[in-house]
Amino acid sequence: MTKHYLIHGDAIEVLPKIQNKVDAIIVDPPYNTSNKNTKVLKGRKARTSDFGAWDYYSDEEYLRFTRKWIILAQEKLKAHGNFLIFCKLEYVSDVRRIYESEGLKHHGTIIWHKTNPAPQIRKKGFLSSCEAILWATNGFDDNKISYAFNFSTQREMHNFIETPICMGRERTPHPTQKPKKVLSHLLNIFTNENDWILDCFAGSGTLAEAASEIKRNTINIESDNNYFNIMAKRIQGGVNSKVKIVTSVRNLGPLKL
Ligand SMILES: C[S@@+](CC[C@H](N)C(=O)[O-])C[C@H]1O[C@@H](n2cnc3c(N)ncnc32)[C@H](O)[C@@H]1O
Repeated sequence: MTKHYLIHGDAIEVLPKIQNKVDAIIVDPPYNTSNKNTKVLKGRKARTSDFGAWDYYSDEEYLRFTRKWIILAQEKLKAHGNFLIFCKLEYVSDVRRIYESEGLKHHGTIIWHKTNPAPQIRKKGFLSSCEAILWATNGFDDNKISYAFNFSTQREMHNFIETPICMGRERTPHPTQKPKKVLSHLLNIFTNENDWILDCFAGSGTLAEAASEIKRNTINIESDNNYFNIMAKRIQGGVNSKVKIVTSVRNLGPLKL
């Protein structure tokens, strides 16, 4: 039986109230990628890049926000913990510099290649088919690797993963839902059974669903009411998982991990 806390609130306010430490943080934050473009292809559903107010920042605001949540999240990470951050390619070095300046150790960058990205209708540029996942730890000793790193096979352990974007029965109305296959891959490598993993921008709950299937526990924070409800429905429907919903963090004591 796995356990999942679903906390409704703003990560910046909720994180300081969490009194526990987790084994890993795997987080898919806002990318600051929204724009007002809507692509309409003949005979196909319009594709919008306007994901909502949660994904609009000026460059400076975005980097300030990124530093703020990274500092707050890092405080919840055990000494041996892995910290994985999804990121659009344009921000990879900014995000890396931010967490390195806060004492995290950068280990590598994984590329997620989407096999079915939105097409380039006017054919004036590349399709946006790659995203990055930055891997850091709280620190490490070169001679004695203490963080979880479950190396499978040479064939599987490329710093590259390829999947379609989320479709079919897996797809919820969340506009930037990640495929479960990507999260399962990361969880298998960077965490162990019974670990606790934090996702402070949980969206539709993909991390929690993937984790519950391979015996990991999660703490999830999501501020948007609609997405929170999508996540709650999705995770509560799972077998072998105990779900605790937290709607007010005012008196949040230590969670029972
Ligand atoms: C990129 S999406 C995560 C998608 C998720 N990985 C999934 O597969 O569904 C980022 C999420 O962070 C949420 N969010 C944005 N700002 C937030 C904040 N300050 N606190 C908590 N959640 C926030 C958004 O509502 C959005 O659902």
